[in-house]
Amino acid sequence: MISRRNFLVEFSAGWVAAAALPRLLASAAEQPAVYIPGEAGMIVRSARFLDLEMPPEFFDSWITPTAHFFVRNHMHEPSTLDRETWRLTVTGEVENPLRLSLAELQKFETQTVTNTLECAGNGRGFYQPPVPGVQWQKGAVGTARFSGPRLGDILQRAGVKVSAKHVMFHGLDEVPGKVPAFIRSIPIEKARHSDTLVATRMNGSPLAMHHGFPARALVPGWIGAASCKWLSEIKVLDREFDGNFMKPGYRLPNHPLEPGASLNVDDSHVITSLTVKSVIATPRDGSILHSRSFIARGAAWAGEAEIVKVEVSTDGGGSWQAAQLHHEQAKYAWRLWRCRLQVPAAGQYTILSRAIDSQQRVQPQTAEWNPSGYLYNAIDQVKVRVQT
Ligand code: MTE
Repeated sequence: MISRRNFLVEFSAGWVAAAALPRLLASAAEQPAVYIPGEAGMIVRSARFLDLEMPPEFFDSWITPTAHFFVRNHMHEPSTLDRETWRLTVTGEVENPLRLSLAELQKFETQTVTNTLECAGNGRGFYQPPVPGVQWQKGAVGTARFSGPRLGDILQRAGVKVSAKHVMFHGLDEVPGKVPAFIRSIPIEKARHSDTLVATRMNGSPLAMHHGFPARALVPGWIGAASCKWLSEIKVLDREFDGNFMKPGYRLPNHPLEPGASLNVDDSHVITSLTVKSVIATPRDGSILHSRSFIARGAAWAGEAEIVKVEVSTDGGGSWQAAQLHHEQAKYAWRLWRCRLQVPAAGQYTILSRAIDSQQRVQPQTAEWNPSGYLYNAIDQVKVRVQT
């Protein structure tokens, strides 16, 4: 069996047998397609460290099939990971340090959380002026059912000391060269929340390698970076972890910045919860429609808050029409929406969508520019031509 990395190496050396490619991944820039086992129809943003984006048409399912679930890797996936020898350690500010096998982990009570996981950099490619980093557009987001023990139960068994303030996660990624390891921490209150998991399953199956096999943190409603994959170490700290992926990484300025300005780390904060956002899945940008009446569909989410309304406009935001929210819902999951639209005549139209959440947050006209391009959530838009 060919490994992912070997495949990519062989692919880049020109080894592609057409008959062996049942599913092809189209790169954003229409470069040669790359086959990545287990992934279907995804946009390859990076093949070096696998970064796969879900194309907008896959926003049609409340639960994102795992094969369509975006992948965001900062470094190489572990190349040797054996479920028999894998251990999860729990150390730091605890009375009884733990070293758990997968079988021991699976003896804890299991909880399932349906969660929309979004990369903090989703939409980065839309910021002006442009910012460096993976140029995600709409699809570094997906919704899945994650199952596993509650992190709080594991911490309780370890006996957390009163000095505990943060819980740090470390995964088994293979770190290239001098790059700092992907280590982050979350506050003890969120770690103890009954919906925060050490997930071992996704959509009813054991976690796929790309999504953190055999166990990952699942910090619902928060940016994807909080949910450490290939988890091997949980360390309870008496302060926030301040390594690269907490500082200067994954931070926002405390006050709006002029576009193009740089971040003053001492006047910034770590990003936690996701913000309010909707996207239009169909019609696709650039579509030609053959009727003045058509349906727009999409998804909307708000991290730890609830979506209360999605509105759609075809006249540049002059008037808004309420979309119908789909009945399927869960605390941290997106709502699918649909809206029948009617335009007065043939011509070019821009369809806009905006979401409003239970914290009265309204998706803004323009996302607040920041130097790493995090939390892009401007009103979504697609351009269509109506030809009757
Ligand atoms: N965990 C480890 N160990 N290494 C990583 O690179 N990427 C994080 C997070 N957990 C990452 C990680 C980021 S930035 C995101 S958005 C999510 O994983 C993506 O999860 P997914 O690849 O399962 O969609």
